[in-house]
Amino acid sequence: MFEKHIACIGAGYVGGPTMAVIAMKCPQYKVTVVDVNEARIKAWQTENLPIYEPGLLEVVKEARGRNLFFSTDIDAAIRESEIIFVSVNTPTKTFGEGSGKAADLQYWEKVAREILHESESPKIVIEKSTLPVKTSQTMENILNANDKNIHFDVISNPEFLAEGTAVKDLLEPDRVLIGSRETPGGLKARQSIVDIYANWVPADRIVTSNVWSAELSKLVANAFLAQRISSINSISALCERTEASVQEVSHAVGMDTRIGSRFLNASIGFGGSCFKKDILNLVYICEAYHLPEVAQYWEWVLKMNEYQESRFVRNMVRSMFNTIVDKRIALFGFAFKSNTGDTRESPAIYVAKKLLEEKADVVITDPKAIENARIDLAGCEGNINYIEDPYEAARGVHAVAIMTEWDLYRNLSWDKIYASMEKPAFVFDGRNILDIEKLFNIGFNVFPLGHPPLKHF
Ligand code: UDX
Ligand code: ADP
Repeated sequence: MFEKHIACIGAGYVGGPTMAVIAMKCPQYKVTVVDVNEARIKAWQTENLPIYEPGLLEVVKEARGRNLFFSTDIDAAIRESEIIFVSVNTPTKTFGEGSGKAADLQYWEKVAREILHESESPKIVIEKSTLPVKTSQTMENILNANDKNIHFDVISNPEFLAEGTAVKDLLEPDRVLIGSRETPGGLKARQSIVDIYANWVPADRIVTSNVWSAELSKLVANAFLAQRISSINSISALCERTEASVQEVSHAVGMDTRIGSRFLNASIGFGGSCFKKDILNLVYICEAYHLPEVAQYWEWVLKMNEYQESRFVRNMVRSMFNTIVDKRIALFGFAFKSNTGDTRESPAIYVAKKLLEEKADVVITDPKAIENARIDLAGCEGNINYIEDPYEAARGVHAVAIMTEWDLYRNLSWDKIYASMEKPAFVFDGRNILDIEKLFNIGFNVFPLGHPPLKHF
């Protein structure tokens, strides 16, 4: 009764929302999302989804049980589907050749072998995970080296959704990129993926290309975005020493339509599962092709990010009279950005660890990421408290440091917080979300990012 059977292997931040939107927009297809993680699959079937993403529950509820299914029976989903999306994790390798840079493809390869093992008919396999250029060729080699006489087409369809806005990004994408081999079979497979998106994405936003361009475009898009952040963050350091404000500079620079205003917010550093991993991938590829200058160029985007994180902590210690031993410090926010509970590569992890090394007592608060914070800091020595209510978290602390730009923190009663803190009270705004004049007038010593500090001493 369904026109097409689609499976997605990997029910994470990418696979889950993407498939939910496809199922909602295309009731004529059966969409089955599978994962080895039983708890995750169970959670997708409840009101309490395994990831927090605004608007996602509504989308899932519309399609769930109608044409959207969650299961741990990976083999059955493979057998039943003619189209298989793969969105398993591809972390940076932590061992062996390419350790610390290259992508760890073990999960992807396992899936490819499983697809091969279970398949009884030809299939289109789609890379959704971000992978280094030429991975699809490897996958094609593995899949097509079979004695079953089954042909597999491998398509690259990189995902550009950002966490926190995933549903909107999927419903109204800037573009959908579909790369394939340019053989008659490859072009036919490409068209069947175009047909899926054409159910709701305007034709001029569906871009097709060869498979290598599609894979590389994903890495390059993320590298360019991260580069903008590193660029403005480098300027924030200069602004703190001069009379300039990075927000004013960013505003003025961004008004140039050739530059544009987005992704120019100075921050404590970028996090998330993609930027660092993708740039490392790009660097590794450039090194592998003997392009050391190109590799170094992109590597500096990451070095600047590390500099920004370490600079922030250094500044905290110096400003609090060169010692934070036994001082209580509250980190407001732990997620790598607002509107998500994800903490992967969050700069807050680095900051918390450094503060603990300096023997401060650390209090963590976040509306959605406390559980992940506990996992990230498990095993760290020192005094850590996890308190969801920000007012409680700030009680008796010497300093508050804003790590995540949650709207909640903008609208707090900062008078009330000031009253309950140790004096002199410090605020370090790693996201530039607070009204610094107002806080200064309350009595805080305010350390904005990319702006000279406002101090009472
Ligand atoms: C990113 C890409 O945007 C997305 O297209 C890709 O598919 C996956 O990687 P994501 O990691 O979810 O998405 O978040 P993004 O909104 O890009 O933010 C990444 C990091 O940069 C966050 O830590 C964010 O706080 C930071 N950031 C963003 C800044 O510090 N300043 C800015 O101006 C914008
Ligand atoms: P992303 O942000 O790229 O979506 P996640 O880590 O959130 O990454 O999701 C990847 C998912 O892939 C996880 O839920 C993980 O359990 C799943 N996964 C990894 N390996 C396999 C596999 N061999 N078969 C099925 N699912 C897998």
